[in-house]
Amino acid sequence: PSLASSAIDEFLGCLAADIPSRFIQTPATPSYSALLLSTAWNLRYILPDTSKPIGIIAATEHAHVQTTVRCGRRHGVRIRVRSGGHDYEGLSYASIHLHNEPFAVLELAALRAIHVDPARAEAWVESGATIGELYYAVGAASRSLGFPAGSCPTMGVGGHLSGGGFGSLARKYGLSADNVLDAVVVDANGRLMNRSTMGEDLFWAICGGGGESFGIVLSWKVRLVAVPETVTVFSIIRSRNQSAIELITKWQEIAPVLPQNLYLRVLVLNQQATFQALFLGRCGCLHGLMQDRFPELGMTKQNCQEEPIPRDVWESIWTAWLEKPEAALLMLDPYGGLMSSISPSETPFPHRQGNLYQLQYYSFWYENGTAAAEKRMSWVRGLYKEMEPYVSKNPRAVYVNYRDLDLGTNELDGNVTSYEKARVWGEKYFKGNFKRLAAVKTMVDPDDFFKNEQSIPPLPAAK
Ligand code: FDA
Repeated sequence: PSLASSAIDEFLGCLAADIPSRFIQTPATPSYSALLLSTAWNLRYILPDTSKPIGIIAATEHAHVQTTVRCGRRHGVRIRVRSGGHDYEGLSYASIHLHNEPFAVLELAALRAIHVDPARAEAWVESGATIGELYYAVGAASRSLGFPAGSCPTMGVGGHLSGGGFGSLARKYGLSADNVLDAVVVDANGRLMNRSTMGEDLFWAICGGGGESFGIVLSWKVRLVAVPETVTVFSIIRSRNQSAIELITKWQEIAPVLPQNLYLRVLVLNQQATFQALFLGRCGCLHGLMQDRFPELGMTKQNCQEEPIPRDVWESIWTAWLEKPEAALLMLDPYGGLMSSISPSETPFPHRQGNLYQLQYYSFWYENGTAAAEKRMSWVRGLYKEMEPYVSKNPRAVYVNYRDLDLGTNELDGNVTSYEKARVWGEKYFKGNFKRLAAVKTMVDPDDFFKNEQSIPPLPAAK
């Protein structure tokens, strides 16, 4: 349903009562476009026909966030929250499928303070900080502390931690979400809460349940982890005639069972496989380990709970897909290590024991026009379909921070999102945890204020 322009005016008036006008941009104000584009990382979602926010609130204080939620609720304006704007489907700054309803963007980039306490190995970080800024602050405070999170330094802490946060320290220390100790949240009623006042269910949901369904996380208290002062990395490129296919075939078996302090991933791009490693130790030690484990591992498919992709399949994928000019990047990131010993229900992120690695199809292009986009997209969709027999099943699992609206989008059931319809995509992200996330949602936002194309729905009312 579209919203009367009077309701939009009332919403903006409600904001203006508490938030200085310089922090509120509307399509009529000069900085609106620059602010909207500042972290709109997926250019597919800022095309002229994409629906744009009726306002952008650049919060500089927690009270601005509370006011925005209260005004949004009062006047029926949906709020989309943006921390770093890396959402694959642009859900933090665009409304693609959701009934064309007017929405406002709450921009958290100005809330980016970081306080590191090296003695306690803890830090408080605001959601608008980037992961790179957090890494930098931790590194500046101590050479022997780190934080487990993803590789792209411009990602926002807010979206990254609320969706899990997977990176090169995961095999040793788990996800970012596994290392969250406390958080400050604004709920759907505009109340400010911390872990003890929000309770363990909501705390559990925000640590991996995907951003935006439960409230707005303003800041996070995280546990920092021990890293040696010197670590070793390598990046080795192999083409097909340098045994790339054999190496990938073998990598599947060894990477998830290597010692926890070694993370070895593969990027497949331009018909070349790049093996990238991060080892929490010195070069000599890593060298010995690779000599030992990579050639003579002697591991068979039977040792694994899930069968890796056989060599001949890699062979045909290479020929049929990777040699195409529109081929995307294939990213193979290992699980195993600590990731396997954390229970699948510990956080909403369920992809723990039994998962060897994650496979990501990551396309980017610079040509204009829908034909180019369609070609790239259909490559991704085609290979995704082709991989079905070899990957996780029932459901085919997906990591929520690798958001994909092709999995399904929400539909309304009355005024709230349909739980049954949402299970189609939701159980792929969260498996058995989806129901618990819906139960938390029922508790904290029964009217479904925080909703988007793939927000967690409340449980259906008991008949
Ligand atoms: P953005 O601001 O777009 O938010 C993402 C979602 O979270 C939206 O639904 C948004 O509304 C919500 N949200 C944002 N802030 C919130 C808050 N404070 N409270 C509540 N909800 C909030 N992932 C990974 O695990 N490891 C990796 O190495 C990478 N690498 C990577 C590289 C690149 C180039 C991209 C584009 C993405 C990744 N990702 C990733 C995926 C990344 O973790 C995911 O997109 C995060 O949600 C990004 O968080 P942002 O705050 O930047 O996104």
